[in-house]
Amino acid sequence: MGTPASLATSDGHIIKTVDLSKTYPEMDVPAVDRLCLEVLPGEIFGLLGPNGAGKTTTAGMLTTRVVPSSGQAIVGSVDVIRHPSLVKQLIGVVSQQNTLDRSLTVRENLYYHGLLFGLGTRKSRQISDELLEKFHLANWGDKSVFALSGGMAQRLMVARAIFHSPAVLFLDEPTAGLDPQSRLALWEILEDLNSKGQTILLTTHYMEEADQLCNRVAIMDHGKILALDSPENLKKSLGASAVLTVRLDGEKKGFADLLEREIDGVTNCREIQGGLEAHVASPEKLLPKVISKAEAGGYSVLDIGLKEATLETVFINLTGKDLRD
Ligand SMILES: Nc1ncnc2c1ncn2[C@@H]1O[C@H](COP(=O)(O)OP(=O)(O)O)[C@@H](O)[C@H]1O
Ligand SMILES: [Mg+2]
Repeated sequence: MGTPASLATSDGHIIKTVDLSKTYPEMDVPAVDRLCLEVLPGEIFGLLGPNGAGKTTTAGMLTTRVVPSSGQAIVGSVDVIRHPSLVKQLIGVVSQQNTLDRSLTVRENLYYHGLLFGLGTRKSRQISDELLEKFHLANWGDKSVFALSGGMAQRLMVARAIFHSPAVLFLDEPTAGLDPQSRLALWEILEDLNSKGQTILLTTHYMEEADQLCNRVAIMDHGKILALDSPENLKKSLGASAVLTVRLDGEKKGFADLLEREIDGVTNCREIQGGLEAHVASPEKLLPKVISKAEAGGYSVLDIGLKEATLETVFINLTGKDLRD
């Protein structure tokens, strides 16, 4: 497995898009708007954004499923628009839907994929068995795919996607709908594949997933990239090291104004259910200050807490809204 360096473009990228755009016929705004992306071989690259941000459309264009309206996309040195069938041979795709063949067994889903990619019967049988073992599906080889849990079906789709050693593995919301344990198991698999050189591009609306897995993340909203960097640098760029949560009775707007006005380093104060949330530059000695300001202003604080800034914080800072909204 791994990514032969020869598959990268002359400037070293395994994926490169220039002003890549998609406007669906019935829409008047672009789903993806002049996207410029560069992914390096060996990276786990994440597209992070809320529903409707344009993540699936972007992945769709890079995997030849969606025809771009304009712009350019190169995957593994091949122009996606000019040579879609060549690109298909270079990539592995795990889409959001279950695309397993229900008339085949678990093993056959792998085996026939091998034949389809021209690997021959012996090689296909051998790789199928290796992958079943590696993905903890060895006891399920002869079962129908109907017998698999959601997590197992997802693992099988990843196994099938890497069967032919693709230059890039694409995953669209790979852990959406999975239970926490299956999510962790899949993260481990992706980390393991990546440690052996597999380039991965994934889309997600889970900030923890982007934070935990990705070397670099493009934060997307309304078809545009709002920020692109490592999770660490994105969080550093905030200038906020923590998030303050205050639960309080009664009117919140006045207290939000008071906090921003009277405590240094408090920004982006906004109402959440039952209270307020704000970004803070330095959490030191903050809580007593907040409580005494509340008391002096006649507000009654029910609960107060501090947590570390996350990519969600970055997103809120960029857009003024939650990833979940
Ligand atoms: N096949 C389609 N036809 C028309 N509009 C679409 C289609 N697929 C997606 N869209 C629209 O394009 C925008 C981006 O969608 P999508 O790429 O699915 O975002 P995400 O994957 O980030 O949720 C949304 O407004 C969505 O409604
Ligand atoms: Mg999507």
